[in-house]
Amino acid sequence: MGFSPNFPTFFFLFPSIFFWLSRATTFEIINQCSYTVWAVALPGGGRQLNPGETWLLNMADDTVYCRIWGRTNCIFDETGNGSCETGDCNNQLSCQNYGSSPVTVAEYEARYVGVNFYYLSLLDGFNIPMEFKPNNRSCREIKCTADINRECPTVLRTAGGCNHPCTVFKNDFYCCTYGNCTVTDLSNFFMTRCPDAYSFALDYSTKFTCASGSNYGVVFCPLGSSPSLVFPPPPPPHASFAHMCIRIIMI
Ligand SMILES: *[C@@H]1O[C@H](CO)[C@@H](O)[C@H](O)[C@H]1NC(C)=O
Ligand SMILES: *[C@@H]1O[C@H](CO)[C@@H](O)[C@H](O)[C@H]1NC(C)=O
Ligand SMILES: *[C@@H]1O[C@H](CO)[C@@H](O)[C@H](O)[C@H]1NC(C)=O
Repeated sequence: MGFSPNFPTFFFLFPSIFFWLSRATTFEIINQCSYTVWAVALPGGGRQLNPGETWLLNMADDTVYCRIWGRTNCIFDETGNGSCETGDCNNQLSCQNYGSSPVTVAEYEARYVGVNFYYLSLLDGFNIPMEFKPNNRSCREIKCTADINRECPTVLRTAGGCNHPCTVFKNDFYCCTYGNCTVTDLSNFFMTRCPDAYSFALDYSTKFTCASGSNYGVVFCPLGSSPSLVFPPPPPPHASFAHMCIRIIMI
């Protein structure tokens, strides 16, 4: 293999190859809701996203797990201290901890070589319709667009969202503590409306895989969400790919 003596030059001339070897993952977090969403990525922090705004988040190479959700009806002061009706995390805009339920969550795992897991979870309830879409077209785009807040069973209802039954009842039956549980009367409410998302703890059929190296779009209020929303779909996911290459050339 002849390139080792000119290794740095090689990378200088072909920065996109460096990108491929480094396997950095980008999340393009888009707010298509008609209302403001205060997005969180753990790791990553938090950001206010007005309707139509996008947060481009480059994950560190060694990120093995990331969790993304949206907060609603927040008020923060100029220091980033405040609170939200749903998804609040220790009163901080730049979130460093799990948020309070209910929240719809997008989760990404890169614990194994060559493969990523990605899924939408309703195990902490539901607050905002979401979509999780790999830019690798062979991998499935998953979404949860049902009007769950409006249809939520009375026992699960709470301000701004719909709780998971485990949050409300805190027992083995609804939380799947033992490991051989199945769908329940109440988790079935989530499963029928959003079959692509985790509705009970062992719902592994909704844990999707994609080859490492894919970037992801995470959309709040994707097309098809109820109630129907006014914002047009974002540009194609390739856009984030171009950004990555430009960033690396600038470094
Ligand atoms: C942040 O706000 C909370 C109430 O929302 C308050 O209790 C706390 O003292 C504030 N912290 C700072 C550092 O201002
Ligand atoms: C788990 O499944 C086994 C076999 O179906 C059953 O005997 C056991 O009671 C179950 N455990 C719980 C905690 O549900
Ligand atoms: C896209 O994903 C498929 C299935 O996971 C994989 O076989 C393929 O290599 C991926 N393509 C790229 C360009 O990473």
